[in-house]
Amino acid sequence: MNPEQEIQSLREQLSKHALAYYVLDTPTVPDAEYDRLFQRLEALELKHAELKTIDSPTQRVGGGLLGAFSKVKHAVPMLSIRTETDTESSGAKNFDVRIRKTLELSETDTPIEYVAELKFDGLAMSLHYEDGILTQAATRGDGETGEDVTQNVRTIHQIPLRLIAKPAITLFDDTVPSRVEVRGEVYMRRDDFETLNERQRIKIAAGQKGEKIFVNPRNAAAGAVRQLDSKIAADRQLSFFAYAVAQGLPNEVTTHAQTLEQLHAWGFPVSTDARVCTGADELVQFHQDMAAKRDALPFDIDGVVYKVNSLVSQARLGFVSREPRWAVAHKYPAQEQMTTVLAIDVQVGRTGKLTPVAKLAPVFVGGVTVTNATLHNEDEARRKDVRVGDTVIVRRAGDVIPEVVNVVLDKRMQDAQIFTIPTHCPVCGSVAIREEGETDTRCTGGLICGAQRKQAIEHFAHKRAVYIDGLGEKLVEQMVDAGIIKSLPDIYRLGLANIVALDRMAEKSAQNVLAAIEKSKQTTLPRLLFGLGIRHVGESTAKAFAKHFGNIDAIMDASEERLQQVPDVGPVVAQSLRSFFDVPYNREVVEQLRACALTWDEGEGTPTVPQILANKTFVLTGTLPTLGRGEAKEMIEAAGGKVTGAVSKKTDYVVAGAEAGSKLDKARELGVLVLDETQLKELLGG
Ligand code: IVH
Repeated sequence: MNPEQEIQSLREQLSKHALAYYVLDTPTVPDAEYDRLFQRLEALELKHAELKTIDSPTQRVGGGLLGAFSKVKHAVPMLSIRTETDTESSGAKNFDVRIRKTLELSETDTPIEYVAELKFDGLAMSLHYEDGILTQAATRGDGETGEDVTQNVRTIHQIPLRLIAKPAITLFDDTVPSRVEVRGEVYMRRDDFETLNERQRIKIAAGQKGEKIFVNPRNAAAGAVRQLDSKIAADRQLSFFAYAVAQGLPNEVTTHAQTLEQLHAWGFPVSTDARVCTGADELVQFHQDMAAKRDALPFDIDGVVYKVNSLVSQARLGFVSREPRWAVAHKYPAQEQMTTVLAIDVQVGRTGKLTPVAKLAPVFVGGVTVTNATLHNEDEARRKDVRVGDTVIVRRAGDVIPEVVNVVLDKRMQDAQIFTIPTHCPVCGSVAIREEGETDTRCTGGLICGAQRKQAIEHFAHKRAVYIDGLGEKLVEQMVDAGIIKSLPDIYRLGLANIVALDRMAEKSAQNVLAAIEKSKQTTLPRLLFGLGIRHVGESTAKAFAKHFGNIDAIMDASEERLQQVPDVGPVVAQSLRSFFDVPYNREVVEQLRACALTWDEGEGTPTVPQILANKTFVLTGTLPTLGRGEAKEMIEAAGGKVTGAVSKKTDYVVAGAEAGSKLDKARELGVLVLDETQLKELLGG
């Protein structure tokens, strides 16, 4: 092969691989092989400068620096489309009615065929091909005159530098028309946008001047296309969808659907979410289907576009001012809007978690008026660096809670203060701490904190804690909202009248609740201790403390060192328990509960079950036929056994139920005895 032939062959191979990779999404060679061919071509072109051409794959890397873009007068004006702002189904129906009227169709005439497409949120681009080779790319500009951005557009891998000579329909020959003008949308995928902004953040943090965070993918795409340095444009990942042929469409093509097929055959990416629809109802269906799919798409759309399918009908319909009558854009509510941050509040959740929330100037986004956006936690707030007074982009997609996507730094006031998470709970004033390795900052107020009241009472009344049958989430909510319970001891001060007065509470049910409260007065120390809801003190830890100390007073008074002497109790648990009882209010709660005639078996009480499983370690996995996880665990522990989470050589038994997974495999691997539910019951004495 002579150099010319080799160059030719390399270009063909590279174009084929690039089409497979960038357009068809089915890579044909490993990256390394592509790189090898590419480097070989580069080397040959360097040696034989006379063989270089503008459609060579090596021309995609960007190069020259421009002083300004030259103007391009569009041979065929780049029109805009009429927009149906009505986001409901009437948008599609109005369009159909208009078309039928203009075409003078009566109700008995057959429905019209349309093509429904996505309305990509990028920027329109005109691409000129001469004898199949990309010679010019131009922006829309004012529709009459745009800018020549060929250098930058060449770097977009999804745009063919040379058209594939392939007819979409078999009617005509396989030569490419000598002049072709393709129209489509240059856009940036959401993941490429995130990557770009992440890189921008790093640059800004490193103090590089003139760098900015992009507001949305469309702005980022427009910025890249209008880069005077095509090396920078090449670095920003842009994508493309073709949707029209302005010049050079083969005569054999008679519908818009065929136009899309021809574009694809020439080597352009064409969205697979285009659908031929008959009549208005199918347009409405498409609008709804795409609304549901919108958030799952890898790129932004701001609506859908309906086009009359028949090109003859399109010609008959013609234009009104600068818009075609045969097409309409049917929008979706915008998912992003700009607004300002009025304040940053810190909310305390039911579990004591502190969440910074940006209070926003009301803004209509994603179909609702938004006034709040969560900043999640300290790290997120710091990463986004949202400050009071800032102008921000707020996003609400689907049913997802509104989010601040970015701060518009250009608009920041000089004196804007950095947000810091408070050191004290804004609800109860207790110290708020963020433990090592945690992302959340929490109020340590526990029982004292108004924000955590409902959760605390609900937890106390839980089946596994002090157990008040019937006092669940709903009732607790009602009682706290009615102001009849503020703290745990208040539960025992309730009278029938209080409860009956609640909404939708019959006397019989109220009596049941009172009876359950009465019954709960006799409990055990582990249940009481667990019921207090001390952070890190779960059921088994509560049991361990009870067993070790034997009574609540000893536990309340124990130093951290003494607490740590309890098996399986480390510094985190010890500190948590200690600081809980360092709060006078929490001790007061225990005293008041006692005063309310709550009694408990101190220590573990005398075990009623023979300790036949003492020193035996169990792991539970899968779903047992009749026993719940909690029940099985309780039975094993009652017999003196221990239940752990992971299988090791120290495990004595694995109790496996349906759909047991890796733990069962591990047990078999280590030769640990495996029991089913029946065998477990037998072991426990039937
Ligand atoms: S057709 C004569 N189809 O919407 C109609 N436009 O046109 C020519 N757009 O900025 C446009 N997705 O860039 C058409 N599937 C689609 C589109 C689309 C997005 C943009 C286009 C232009 C605006 C109005």
